[in-house]
Formats: sequence, C-alpha cells, structure tokens
Amino acid sequence: MVPTMGALHDGHLSLMRQARTLADHVAVSIFVNPTQFAPTEDLEKYPRPLERDLELCREVGVDFVFNPSVDVMYPADELDVVVDVPALTGVLEGAHRPGHFVGVCRVVAKLLSIVGPNVAVFGRKDYQQLKVIEAMATGLCLPVKIVAGETVREADGLALSSRNVYLSDEQRAAALSLSKALREAEGMISDGVLDPRAIETAMRAQMQAHHVTVDYAAVRGARDLCELDLINTSMMPVVCLVAGRVGATRLIDNVVVGEGTRSPLARG
Ligand code: PAJ
Repeated sequence: MVPTMGALHDGHLSLMRQARTLADHVAVSIFVNPTQFAPTEDLEKYPRPLERDLELCREVGVDFVFNPSVDVMYPADELDVVVDVPALTGVLEGAHRPGHFVGVCRVVAKLLSIVGPNVAVFGRKDYQQLKVIEAMATGLCLPVKIVAGETVREADGLALSSRNVYLSDEQRAAALSLSKALREAEGMISDGVLDPRAIETAMRAQMQAHHVTVDYAAVRGARDLCELDLINTSMMPVVCLVAGRVGATRLIDNVVVGEGTRSPLARG
C-alpha cells in the first residue's frame, strides 16, 4: 500500500513502482486528511485532481485505489482516538505544526487497518513522518512492514511536492535554496566539519539569502532524530532537515548522510 493525499507526482509514482516490486497487488489511498491540517493551513486549497490521479495510478499498474470521503474516515459519532509517538513528534515539524503528527498517526493507523496491506511504503521526503510511522507500527505491533522510498527530485535538486504547484517562477527559484542548503551541509560533513551548529548556521544562511522564512535547519541522528553534540557518521548516520516558507508555501526537505550509500543529492 502507498498512502497519499493525491495531487500525485513522480515522487508518489516511484513509491508505487517500488511497492509493485514488493507485492503482488498494490493499493493506493487518496485522502486529504483534515485532522493533520491546522486551521491556518491549506486544507481547503490543497489540490485535488482526482481524475488525473486515477489515470496515473492506472498507468503505474496500481490495482486498487481507496478514496474515502471525510464522513467515511471520520463518522460524526466517532469519538476521538489519539495515537502518538511523543518522543518523536514534539520537535521539528511537530513543534511548528502542533497536532499534525497525531492526525497523521490516526489516519495512517485507520488506513492500514482498513486496507490491510502486508507492506506500506512511505517516502523519505517526509523523514520525520517516516520515523513516526515506523515507531507507531512497531509500538502497536501492526502486522505491516514499513518500507522507505527515496526522495524524487527535479533535475536541479528541488524535491517534488504536491505544494510546488503553489510556487511562482520566482518562488520556485527561492525554493531551490532548501536542496542547496542540504547539499552544502553534506559537503561540510564530508569535509570533516563536526559541529552540528556550524552546519545548521550555514543551512539557515543559504535559505535566508533567498528570502526563505526558515522554520528550522537541523542536524539530527538519523535513527531517532536525537540532538547531537558532535557529528560522527561512522558511528551514527545523521539527517539534515530543513523547513521554510516561500511566500505562503511551506516546504520541507532533508538528506541523510553517512549511510554508506551514494548521496541521493548527487547529480549525474
Ligand atoms: P503526501 O504528502 O501525499 O505523501 C504521500 C507519500 O509520498 C508520503 O510517504 C511522502 O513521503 C511521499 N512523497 C512525497 N514527496 C515525495 C518525493 N518527492 N519523493 C518520494 N516520496 C515522496 O505524506 C502524506 O501524504 C500524508 O501525511 C499521509 C501519509 C498520506 C497521511 O495522510
């Protein structure tokens, strides 16, 4: 299964193709989940090109699409159910989007229960979400294997996102500073910079130079998002994470360094 909120792009499609290599049948859910949006966020204007999404699912060979209404997922008489992984959800995205991950956990737990896949694929693009869902699945003994998919990017480095459609040409150029900041961070780490603070400062400066309002620029332990005194990728891979607003559009991106694989940000 590949859970999505629709407005499908090549990032989603790559998760579906990956899912096809892992299972005989692939289900996709398309549901813009209201409980993970704050009242100030873009729930109403979130793009919903359903016919096109269904066509893309068909092209990739998806067997089953689950596209429930809000009433089906959240019946009016249903009592609130709270699933949370507090050790992971209070920081970074969680600190800037209070309640967001409780909404994500609730809907993902429901979607997995309804569809009942053996394997569910989530993108590394939303790295903290991936870690939260892995922990939820393990902690609740959910009978599903959580698999990570690599982030798909445009040729110039911009991570694909359903929210990129909000960007003007000028804003798109500014948005590139997120992946630029991550490439710079990666370079600093491979040059032997050990102080996470120095890397965070450089990432923040890169984004601010392009008039991005920075929500955070952080270097954390890749396994559990722990804060680090020093970087030592031979002991523990790290993840550099950035979030910022370009105009009214909020974007996030990240790169994991020290996993022993070729950088996903490398070109060519
Ligand atoms: P959505 O933003 O639609 O993303 C669906 C899945 O696609 C997530 O696992 C996300 O990490 C992945 N994805 C997004 N952009 C990607 C990219 N450029 N490359 C690879 N994968 C990418 O994430 C959600 O929806 C929701 O929170 C959801 C899990 C469906 C719960 O409502």
